[in-house]
Amino acid sequence: MPTLIKNANEVITLKGDRKGPRTKEAMKEIGIIKNGSILIDQDQIVAVGTLEEIQREHPQLAMDAEVIDAAGKIVMPGLVDCHTHLVHGGTRENEFNMRLNGFTYMEIMNAGGGIHSTTKSTRQASFEDLYEKTFNHLNEFLKYGVTTVEAKSGYGLDWENEKKQLEVAKKLQETHVIDIVSTFMGAHAVPIDYKGREDEFVDIIINQMLPKVAEENLAEFNDVFCEKGVFTPEQSRKILEVGKLYGLTPKIHADEIEPYEGAELAAEVGAISAEHLLVASDEGIRKMAEAGTIAVLLPGTAFFLRAPFARGRLMIDEGVPVAISTDFNPGSSPTISLPFIMNLACMNMGLTLEEVLTATTVNAAYAINRGDQIGSLEKGKKADILVLNVANYKQLQYYYGMNHTHIVVKNGKVVLK
Ligand code: NIG
Ligand code: FE
Repeated sequence: MPTLIKNANEVITLKGDRKGPRTKEAMKEIGIIKNGSILIDQDQIVAVGTLEEIQREHPQLAMDAEVIDAAGKIVMPGLVDCHTHLVHGGTRENEFNMRLNGFTYMEIMNAGGGIHSTTKSTRQASFEDLYEKTFNHLNEFLKYGVTTVEAKSGYGLDWENEKKQLEVAKKLQETHVIDIVSTFMGAHAVPIDYKGREDEFVDIIINQMLPKVAEENLAEFNDVFCEKGVFTPEQSRKILEVGKLYGLTPKIHADEIEPYEGAELAAEVGAISAEHLLVASDEGIRKMAEAGTIAVLLPGTAFFLRAPFARGRLMIDEGVPVAISTDFNPGSSPTISLPFIMNLACMNMGLTLEEVLTATTVNAAYAINRGDQIGSLEKGKKADILVLNVANYKQLQYYYGMNHTHIVVKNGKVVLK
């Protein structure tokens, strides 16, 4: 049955003039239709406009449609969370307390905690355990209005367990209503038993894991933690270049803790995105703007690690397309609330209320190569739509720390009410 969402105070379409991620002023153009309506058929958007326009152009469909009255509320595209470490075993609240007692994130990791601790828990967990835990996390994402999630592996660090994580994501893509886009991140850390033999592990990724990821069609992207004490820029470049030969698009965890020319590397290897960028250099930002590399910024991580925030304002002003995401993971950002993260981006990175909407819809969609299907409300796109319990889009961040999700429509169906 078709669905008609009618008479919203504002429909925020995020429809732009051109294809591709938005930059500069275009990040502020969010396409507001006052007193707007949307007509949906099957899993697609048929029309967006005023009720009169829609009834005139599609009389039969509009008549047959089930009606959702959005009076007094706003409507916008489903949120896209384009950087998460979704599938993982265990939790790390003890390390959080250690950090509050003065230890740093890297100290904890180098002492065998951090990513190594989650690797241990993930290796110990069965496929079913991980599936069930992650299914519950996805239910929480949906409550916050997130309809598409990128999911990185990287807590297996051997083929058996990397594959397990990727297969959990694959099964969830089939069974959970949220869409999942997979990234292979075998280069998330060097396993403890490879200490001093880092290049051997790089060879395993290159010669054994990447070919299997491609052969078994388990991911679209290939990500590397390019960081002092983890993978060097040279090792990262090698892993990303070989991944490209297998059809995997590069992404990079770049310049998160110490400056390491990760932003520069992202631009050079033609990565679709560079992520984190807390301490990215001026030169790196310039190169990203030139190459059109999307900056996926993760203010929750800076908040939770008490680190400096990435220079989001500067990046936008310099012409870098910016996306914002949770980085949901058990160590540096254990939150699912993308709306809270959006607030942090406004308060601590200087994004405007309009820019942060672009950064979590269209630009986030382009960061996972889905810009042609989701991220805006326009004819032909997937009907992933939120009805939010606020009177205008400015209230979304003004009433902060609250969940404004009222109705979630996913693939044209009401999945949360
Ligand atoms: O994006 N920086 C590396 N990876 C994650 C954290 C992973 C973890 O601590 O478990 C991040 O911050
Ligand atoms: Fe991350």
